[in-house]
Amino acid sequence: MKRACVIGWPVEHSRSPLIHNYWLKLHGIDGSYEKQAVPPGEAEAFLRSLAERGYVGANVTLPHKLAALKSADIADEAAYAIGAANTLWLDQAGRLNATNTDAIGFMTNLEAEAPRWNVGRLPVLVIGAGGAARAILYGLLKGGAAKILLANRTRDKAETLTGYFGPMSETRDWIEVVDWKERNRAVSDCGLLVNTTSLGMAGQAPLDIDLAGLPADAVVADIVYAPLVTPLLTAAKNRGRTTVDGLGMLLHQAVPGFERWFGVRPEVTPELRAHVASSLGDK
Ligand code: ATR
Repeated sequence: MKRACVIGWPVEHSRSPLIHNYWLKLHGIDGSYEKQAVPPGEAEAFLRSLAERGYVGANVTLPHKLAALKSADIADEAAYAIGAANTLWLDQAGRLNATNTDAIGFMTNLEAEAPRWNVGRLPVLVIGAGGAARAILYGLLKGGAAKILLANRTRDKAETLTGYFGPMSETRDWIEVVDWKERNRAVSDCGLLVNTTSLGMAGQAPLDIDLAGLPADAVVADIVYAPLVTPLLTAAKNRGRTTVDGLGMLLHQAVPGFERWFGVRPEVTPELRAHVASSLGDK
């Protein structure tokens, strides 16, 4: 029997077991996927001893994504570019491999839900400059976004992110930092708007942004998935815009890990979506 787990602190809220155990059952695989609460400071030791603990690999959630990258013997370009790892597996030689599937998860879902997001090659307005923003910028870079307008409450953090991606992009000034005060103005220039902050999550303030100027074909995406339809997405829907919720990213980011650990490439289906959405008290 193959076993994998998700480590985090806290980890109770993680939906990953729901996703992986759904696929295990669907494919009739003799495996398990568990939650492991690992306190800060103990993640590296835990991950270095995955084999002794009987695991073939693990997902890593907050606050251990940086420790996960440090623990790995081998990490891929995505993990280094994002500066964090969320998916680990032991290879045949027993080496700990790491990747970050947040970018591919976001982009695969975006392509599925809004395939025309980049037809006009308009700039993408990205809100936020934390770890999630860094993953999404990497995805957008690889996915061919023409230009990024990056708005963050703390401008310095946006400037720092620009420093990571400037050298990676072929276009000079691929990222333009937009002052937080100017975010509503930037809305009218963008073909895609992405909220990478936790604003709009249940119990948090909504993202304060005015969509009045949003171009007619623009897409609005949110990485928040609880609630499934955030105030931002409601505002976009009310204006008749295509919206992309955070649940799709969560489901798609899980695919590469499952394939590594259990040897079957699983699919993100409407049934899986409904299964996980019902745990959010939503459909
Ligand atoms: P993560 O790693 O999950 O992305 P994070 O690093 O804490 O989380 O980043 C949270 C993001 O939400 C940041 O961009 C943060 O802006 P600051 O850099 O100014 O802190 C943004 N954020 C959080 N609360 C906010 C608020 N009330 N208004 C605007 N932005 C906010």
